[in-house]
Amino acid sequence: MSRIHTLTASEILDSRGRPTIRAICTLTSGASAAASVPSGASTGEAEARELRDGDARRYRGLGCRRAVANINEEISRAIAGRECASQADLDNFLIDLDGTHNKARLGANAILAVSISFARAVAAEKEMPLYLHFASLLGRVPETLPRLTINLFSGGKHAGKQVAIQDVLAVPVSPSTVDGSLVMMYDVYQAAAGLIYQRYGMRLLTADEGGLAPPADSAEALVALAVESIEAAGYRPGEDVAIALDVASSHFYSDGVYTLDRERMSSVEMIAMLESWAGKFPIVSIEDGLAENDWSHWPALRQTLDRRVLVLGDDFLCTNPSRIERAIGARACDALLLKVNQVGTLTEALHALRLARSAGWMVTVSVRSGETEDNWAADLAVGWCGDQFKNGSITQSERLSKYNRLLAIEDETGWPITAWPGRAAGS
Ligand code: PGA
Ligand code: ZN
Repeated sequence: MSRIHTLTASEILDSRGRPTIRAICTLTSGASAAASVPSGASTGEAEARELRDGDARRYRGLGCRRAVANINEEISRAIAGRECASQADLDNFLIDLDGTHNKARLGANAILAVSISFARAVAAEKEMPLYLHFASLLGRVPETLPRLTINLFSGGKHAGKQVAIQDVLAVPVSPSTVDGSLVMMYDVYQAAAGLIYQRYGMRLLTADEGGLAPPADSAEALVALAVESIEAAGYRPGEDVAIALDVASSHFYSDGVYTLDRERMSSVEMIAMLESWAGKFPIVSIEDGLAENDWSHWPALRQTLDRRVLVLGDDFLCTNPSRIERAIGARACDALLLKVNQVGTLTEALHALRLARSAGWMVTVSVRSGETEDNWAADLAVGWCGDQFKNGSITQSERLSKYNRLLAIEDETGWPITAWPGRAAGS
């Protein structure tokens, strides 16, 4: 049982220079902790709503002063001195106080800042590392660390749409440590930068999450370049380093048509194209291969890629329990991309994770494209036993704060990273 003494918040800037929120929660025991919230750009329609000021004269309407004031005034007044029996007790209180279905009144950004700063303050009160406190919310002690899926190339909304698909990620599959995965990734990133320089005469141009953003002729050419980069770094594609894609296809879908590389494709043609890529390239996971509202075709995508490639839902699921239940019923995918701020509280995200696990799905814990230097997402990925962690590229401090935190957790625990299904780690 913890009692909140004070809650305060302020507006800070994220990695795109846009406003976001940091909250500080102090308990009556004296334990105190801060937490900052991230923000997406390639957002799903079903996401909980961030509250933005809408004042065009300030940050083009993106200011967070109203959301900050909601923490400093209404939420603080309602919560100060209140006993919180658990994280769920606090989160449910916040949900009720907001009173809307998507947190639009107080703001999902305000609510999440309170939810996470409370979790961290309670961990501090228990003198427990945050990942172990998150594990206690899940009710399971982790024995492994998540495998890394790391942005190599970016396109779509994160890179000015020079290529329509959003992320080509490298997945180091042979290392059994975070350290070994990052060593391998550094080589692949440098090899890719060299190939881009040779081919396009370009120095490194990076996208929102630090991925390289070459002007490839097509999405397929970008995936092929990833395979070449792995080889050029001296690794075996598929055996040492595999590939994951975030197609983020909602952003080039309209009225039943996917427009990719000047071609117009039906859902069935889109599935056939992804299947052909899975045959040509060492792809282990495809995120949002179909659009978020293309419900009737997702089951066919899953069936087509069955067992060979994870069918991962991001905008399709929005970490939203009712969408996840519907997708389980329809056998529409087999992995959840978990982003806490898509739903707005730790408790609802935990419910989403439990539902995914109940269906035997894998879980990739993910950060957002607009991140802060806060590193709670690394603790969450470990504490909630994520199979994968998606944190952008290996450049930019908002990404490195999480990788560096994982390295520290690795040092502290000595846990190996999860083997990719069907492969022993370290092979
Ligand atoms: P976002 O995108 O954080 O910009 O929404 C990340 C993703 O699509 O995985
Ligand atoms: Zn995505």
